[in-house]
Amino acid sequence: MGSPGKSLTGKALLAKIRSDFMGLDTLYETVNGERTRRIYLDSTASSLMLRPAASIAADFMKHYSNTHSKLHHSAHISTAAYDWAHARILSFVGADPEIYTCFFTGSGTTGGINRMARVFRDVHPGKDTAIISIMEHHSNDLPHRKHMKNVIHVPVEGLKEDKMCISLPQLEKTLREEAGKVSYVSITAVSNVTGIINPIQDIARIAHKYGALLMVDGAQSVAHLPTKMFYPDDPDACIDALVFSGHKTYTPGSPGVVIARKDHLLAIEPEEVGGGMVDRVLEDRYQVKDSFPDREEAGTPNIPGAIALATTIEILDRIGMQTLMEEEDIVMEAALKGMADISEIHVYGGTDLDLCPRAASISFNIAGMDHGLVAALLNDYFNIAVRNQCFCAHPYVKEMMSDDLEDKFGIIDFGNMSPEFMRKAGMVRASFGLYSTMEDVELLISALKDITQNGEEYSKGYEINAENDYVNVSYQVDNQAIFNIVGAVDQYLED
Ligand code: ALA
Repeated sequence: MGSPGKSLTGKALLAKIRSDFMGLDTLYETVNGERTRRIYLDSTASSLMLRPAASIAADFMKHYSNTHSKLHHSAHISTAAYDWAHARILSFVGADPEIYTCFFTGSGTTGGINRMARVFRDVHPGKDTAIISIMEHHSNDLPHRKHMKNVIHVPVEGLKEDKMCISLPQLEKTLREEAGKVSYVSITAVSNVTGIINPIQDIARIAHKYGALLMVDGAQSVAHLPTKMFYPDDPDACIDALVFSGHKTYTPGSPGVVIARKDHLLAIEPEEVGGGMVDRVLEDRYQVKDSFPDREEAGTPNIPGAIALATTIEILDRIGMQTLMEEEDIVMEAALKGMADISEIHVYGGTDLDLCPRAASISFNIAGMDHGLVAALLNDYFNIAVRNQCFCAHPYVKEMMSDDLEDKFGIIDFGNMSPEFMRKAGMVRASFGLYSTMEDVELLISALKDITQNGEEYSKGYEINAENDYVNVSYQVDNQAIFNIVGAVDQYLED
């Protein structure tokens, strides 16, 4: 379906695409009464929508049909587009379609990781242990706790060192000590807190050496780094299953994605059963299909979401992930450098990108200020959207905050759930996407300088509300007046 032809690629395409996202020109009013452009630095939570993906998916809607229908034109077109979406993603992540399948599930990585945890558990019925790391987001932690008998968290390299990815010697030691018991290792490729990149191929080799499978949480990596799952000449470096989120890959509204080896999936019956994944259903029995991805996609799938996501991936691939990564590094390096010049800021994780490569995220705190106050100030005065708190990665945030930082931040007791401690136990995260510009970074750094210099004065205008959040006493924005669905319907009906 289509070919790159003579159209733009590489940096030229990136230059065209960079400003073609929905929400880059959103205006909000700040405390000072100015209407300014929102600076979106919350891409790690969810990235903005690539406009051509949305518009091509909208064009597709005139041909939309259920892919379970067969013989009308729209059924043919929809099925071909949906099949293409699977194939496109397999090729993007370097997965041989003879060996791997791609299927869509859930609305992020959580559904896919739960699914693959149960598959890997059943592929190795005699092995009851999963190894993960302390860096994991809850979506790559709790499913293993739920579905496996034992879960071991491997630590990161010494917190005082510059390299803070997961500790390979500790991983190997754990696998050696637990020999014969470990079904699989499941590791994030990139931390959603610090953006630190893990050496996935090294991890794969270690896991496979001890007979464990490797699952990779690609939620924070697939949109930012090149991904390669299959190495025909180096089978131990292969990834057995990769899970990622469409909504973090510039396509909100698209499903979660799993790419996994077919032989593993064939070992057990799919958990989810329903239409589309069976050859025949009789009153007393049913026959599950052997073919992929149908077998793994019970019920009508999110067809438009999958097509929009694969469109995004087609565009990312034409830019080239190496090019994208290098461009994003420039923004990351500038942000780290700007923060390093502000002595009150502590950035979590190594800040030398050669020693400690990162993608997309920087989490930090300002001495003497709660994370919630900093995030509120960035929003209210500077129109900069960041996330604060623990980013659904409590063990890692606890680990990063508990080492050597007492002088700056006092003792942070993560077991203490009092409102006062909850306001201290967390960080501020600035996160970037391919649309993030040097101007965004400059505005962030200048805002942080202002906040650190005038924090005490700013804080006088804030109180804590019933949800334990900082709110400005004189700046009450009626967000419902900015956008509400009933109002949007009324306006449509008036036009
Ligand atoms: N995983 C998302 C984040 O890091 C929700 O913000």
